[in-house]
Amino acid sequence: MDITFDHVSFTYQAGTPFAGDGLKDVTTTIKDGSYTAIIGHTGSGKSTLLQHLNALLKPTTGTVTIGDRVITNETNNKNLKPIRQQVGMVFQFAENQLFEQTVAKDIAFGPENFGMASAEAEKQAAAMVDLVGLPQDVLEKSPFDLSGGQMRRVAIAGVLAMKRRCWCLTSRPLA
Ligand SMILES: Nc1ncnc2c1ncn2[C@@H]1O[C@H](COP(=O)(O)OP(=O)(O)OP(=O)(O)O)[C@@H](O)[C@H]1O
Ligand SMILES: [Mg+2]
Repeated sequence: MDITFDHVSFTYQAGTPFAGDGLKDVTTTIKDGSYTAIIGHTGSGKSTLLQHLNALLKPTTGTVTIGDRVITNETNNKNLKPIRQQVGMVFQFAENQLFEQTVAKDIAFGPENFGMASAEAEKQAAAMVDLVGLPQDVLEKSPFDLSGGQMRRVAIAGVLAMKRRCWCLTSRPLA
Protein backbone atom coordinates (compact mmCIF):
# COMPACT_ATOMS: atom_id res chain seq x y z
CA MET A 1 0.00 0.00 0.00
CA ASP A 2 1.67 3.22 -1.14
CA ILE A 3 0.90 6.54 0.53
CA THR A 4 1.20 9.55 -1.73
CA PHE A 5 1.17 13.25 -0.88
CA ASP A 6 0.32 15.47 -3.83
CA HIS A 7 0.89 19.19 -3.23
CA VAL A 8 -0.32 18.93 0.35
CA SER A 9 -0.56 22.06 2.45
CA PHE A 10 -2.06 22.21 5.90
CA THR A 11 -3.01 25.36 7.77
CA TYR A 12 -3.73 25.23 11.49
CA GLN A 13 -6.77 27.27 12.50
CA ALA A 14 -7.44 28.21 8.88
CA GLY A 15 -9.60 31.26 8.40
CA THR A 16 -8.84 32.75 11.82
CA PRO A 17 -6.31 35.42 12.84
CA PHE A 18 -4.29 32.57 14.41
CA ALA A 19 -3.84 30.68 11.13
CA GLY A 20 -0.38 29.16 10.72
CA ASP A 21 1.36 26.84 8.27
CA GLY A 22 1.78 23.24 9.34
CA LEU A 23 2.80 21.91 5.92
CA LYS A 24 3.52 23.75 2.69
CA ASP A 25 3.25 22.06 -0.71
CA VAL A 26 4.50 18.57 0.19
CA THR A 27 4.72 16.06 -2.67
CA THR A 28 6.18 12.64 -1.92
CA THR A 29 5.42 8.92 -2.00
CA ILE A 30 6.01 6.46 0.81
CA LYS A 31 6.40 3.16 -0.99
CA ASP A 32 4.78 -0.08 0.12
CA GLY A 33 7.22 -2.17 2.14
CA SER A 34 9.61 0.69 2.81
CA TYR A 35 10.94 2.08 6.07
CA THR A 36 10.88 5.83 5.86
CA ALA A 37 12.44 8.21 8.37
CA ILE A 38 11.24 11.79 8.49
CA ILE A 39 13.82 14.12 9.93
CA GLY A 40 13.57 17.87 10.44
CA HIS A 41 13.98 20.78 12.81
CA THR A 42 11.52 21.31 15.60
CA GLY A 43 8.41 22.92 14.13
CA SER A 44 9.22 21.78 10.58
CA GLY A 45 6.00 19.76 10.26
CA LYS A 46 6.90 16.10 11.02
CA SER A 47 4.00 15.52 13.41
CA THR A 48 1.63 17.38 11.12
CA LEU A 49 2.69 15.16 8.22
CA LEU A 50 2.29 11.96 10.25
CA GLN A 51 -1.23 12.89 11.27
CA HIS A 52 -2.14 12.97 7.57
CA LEU A 53 -1.13 9.31 7.20
CA ASN A 54 -4.36 8.11 8.80
CA ALA A 55 -6.50 11.19 8.20
CA LEU A 56 -6.33 12.49 11.77
CA LEU A 57 -5.72 15.70 9.85
CA LYS A 58 -6.97 16.35 6.33
CA PRO A 59 -5.04 18.51 3.87
CA THR A 60 -6.19 22.11 3.58
CA THR A 61 -5.22 21.86 -0.10
CA GLY A 62 -3.86 18.96 -2.14
CA THR A 63 -4.53 15.25 -1.74
CA VAL A 64 -3.24 12.36 0.35
CA THR A 65 -3.78 8.94 -1.21
CA ILE A 66 -3.64 6.04 1.25
CA GLY A 67 -3.85 2.80 -0.70
CA ASP A 68 -6.95 3.41 -2.81
CA ARG A 69 -8.49 6.09 -0.57
CA VAL A 70 -8.04 9.70 -1.63
CA ILE A 71 -8.26 12.22 1.23
CA THR A 72 -8.96 15.85 0.52
CA ASN A 73 -10.28 18.77 2.50
CA GLU A 74 -13.80 17.68 1.52
CA THR A 75 -13.47 14.08 2.75
CA ASN A 76 -16.25 13.13 5.14
CA ASN A 77 -15.06 12.31 8.67
CA LYS A 78 -17.56 9.49 8.99
CA ASN A 79 -15.96 6.87 6.80
CA LEU A 80 -12.37 6.86 8.03
CA LYS A 81 -12.35 3.68 10.11
CA PRO A 82 -11.05 1.52 7.24
CA ILE A 83 -7.98 3.78 7.05
CA ARG A 84 -7.41 3.59 10.80
CA GLN A 85 -7.56 -0.20 10.44
CA GLN A 86 -4.64 -0.04 8.04
CA VAL A 87 -2.40 2.60 9.59
CA GLY A 88 -1.17 2.20 13.18
CA MET A 89 0.22 5.15 15.15
CA VAL A 90 2.59 5.26 18.09
CA PHE A 91 2.86 8.76 19.48
CA GLN A 92 5.88 10.51 20.97
CA PHE A 93 4.77 9.98 24.56
CA ALA A 94 3.49 6.48 23.84
CA GLU A 95 3.42 5.57 27.53
CA ASN A 96 0.62 8.09 28.05
CA GLN A 97 -1.72 5.78 26.17
CA LEU A 98 -1.40 2.98 28.77
CA PHE A 99 -4.38 2.65 31.08
CA GLU A 100 -5.28 -0.97 31.90
CA GLN A 101 -4.61 -2.88 35.12
CA THR A 102 -2.22 -5.34 33.49
CA VAL A 103 0.12 -5.23 30.53
CA ALA A 104 -1.75 -8.18 28.97
CA LYS A 105 -5.08 -6.33 29.11
CA ASP A 106 -3.51 -3.16 27.83
CA ILE A 107 -2.03 -4.82 24.75
CA ALA A 108 -5.24 -6.79 24.10
CA PHE A 109 -7.47 -3.71 24.33
CA GLY A 110 -6.87 -2.40 20.80
CA PRO A 111 -7.33 -5.69 18.93
CA GLU A 112 -10.45 -6.52 20.99
CA ASN A 113 -11.84 -3.09 20.27
CA PHE A 114 -11.42 -3.80 16.56
CA GLY A 115 -13.24 -7.13 16.87
CA MET A 116 -10.62 -9.77 17.73
CA ALA A 117 -11.86 -12.54 20.09
CA SER A 118 -10.41 -12.11 23.56
CA ALA A 119 -8.56 -15.46 23.63
CA GLU A 120 -6.90 -14.53 20.33
CA ALA A 121 -6.08 -11.04 21.64
CA GLU A 122 -4.40 -12.56 24.70
CA LYS A 123 -2.27 -14.78 22.47
CA GLN A 124 -1.38 -11.72 20.46
CA ALA A 125 -0.39 -9.89 23.66
CA ALA A 126 2.04 -12.66 24.61
CA ALA A 127 3.55 -12.73 21.12
CA MET A 128 3.92 -8.92 20.97
CA VAL A 129 5.63 -8.76 24.35
CA ASP A 130 8.26 -11.08 22.86
CA LEU A 131 8.52 -9.02 19.71
CA VAL A 132 9.31 -5.81 21.61
CA GLY A 133 11.93 -7.59 23.72
CA LEU A 134 10.17 -7.84 27.09
CA PRO A 135 9.98 -11.00 29.25
CA GLN A 136 6.64 -12.82 29.49
CA ASP A 137 6.36 -12.06 33.22
CA VAL A 138 5.50 -8.41 32.47
CA LEU A 139 2.13 -9.58 31.13
CA GLU A 140 0.57 -9.78 34.59
CA LYS A 141 2.23 -6.62 35.92
CA SER A 142 0.68 -3.19 36.05
CA PRO A 143 2.02 -1.10 33.14
CA PHE A 144 2.59 1.66 35.67
CA ASP A 145 5.14 -0.43 37.59
CA LEU A 146 7.49 -0.53 34.60
CA SER A 147 10.35 1.78 33.63
CA GLY A 148 9.74 4.52 31.06
CA GLY A 149 11.43 2.50 28.30
CA GLN A 150 9.48 -0.63 29.18
CA MET A 151 6.23 1.35 29.18
CA ARG A 152 6.99 2.61 25.69
CA ARG A 153 7.67 -0.96 24.55
CA VAL A 154 4.29 -2.05 25.95
CA ALA A 155 2.56 0.83 24.16
CA ILE A 156 4.25 -0.15 20.90
CA ALA A 157 3.26 -3.80 21.49
CA GLY A 158 -0.35 -2.64 21.85
CA VAL A 159 -0.27 -0.91 18.49
CA LEU A 160 1.60 -3.76 16.76
CA ALA A 161 -1.01 -6.19 18.11
CA MET A 162 -3.55 -4.58 15.81
CA LYS A 163 -1.79 -5.96 12.70
CA ARG A 164 -1.85 -2.88 10.52
CA ARG A 165 -0.32 -2.61 7.06
CA CYS A 166 1.53 0.57 7.90
CA TRP A 167 3.11 1.85 11.10
CA CYS A 168 3.98 5.39 12.10
CA LEU A 169 6.32 5.50 15.03
CA THR A 170 7.34 8.69 16.78
CA SER A 171 8.54 7.20 20.03
CA ARG A 172 11.44 8.45 22.12
CA PRO A 173 14.21 6.03 23.17
CA LEU A 174 13.08 2.63 24.39
CA ALA A 175 15.56 1.92 27.17
N1 LIG B 1 -2.22 22.53 17.19
C1 LIG B 1 -1.54 23.48 16.54
N2 LIG B 1 -2.08 24.71 16.36
C2 LIG B 1 -1.41 25.67 15.68
N3 LIG B 1 -0.18 25.50 15.14
C3 LIG B 1 0.41 24.30 15.30
C4 LIG B 1 -0.24 23.23 16.01
N4 LIG B 1 0.58 22.15 16.00
C5 LIG B 1 1.68 22.53 15.31
N5 LIG B 1 1.59 23.80 14.90
C6 LIG B 1 2.59 24.55 14.09
O1 LIG B 1 2.79 23.84 12.87
C7 LIG B 1 4.18 23.82 12.51
C8 LIG B 1 4.64 22.37 12.39
O2 LIG B 1 4.56 21.75 13.68
P1 LIG B 1 4.81 20.20 13.95
O3 LIG B 1 4.30 19.93 15.31
O4 LIG B 1 4.25 19.41 12.82
O5 LIG B 1 6.41 20.13 13.91
P2 LIG B 1 7.41 18.93 14.26
O6 LIG B 1 8.34 18.82 13.09
O7 LIG B 1 6.64 17.73 14.65
O8 LIG B 1 8.19 19.52 15.52
P3 LIG B 1 8.87 18.74 16.79
O9 LIG B 1 10.20 18.21 16.29
O10 LIG B 1 9.08 19.86 17.77
O11 LIG B 1 7.93 17.69 17.25
C9 LIG B 1 4.90 24.61 13.61
O12 LIG B 1 5.08 25.92 13.15
C10 LIG B 1 3.94 24.58 14.77
O13 LIG B 1 4.08 25.73 15.58
MG1 LIG C 1 6.57 16.60 16.43
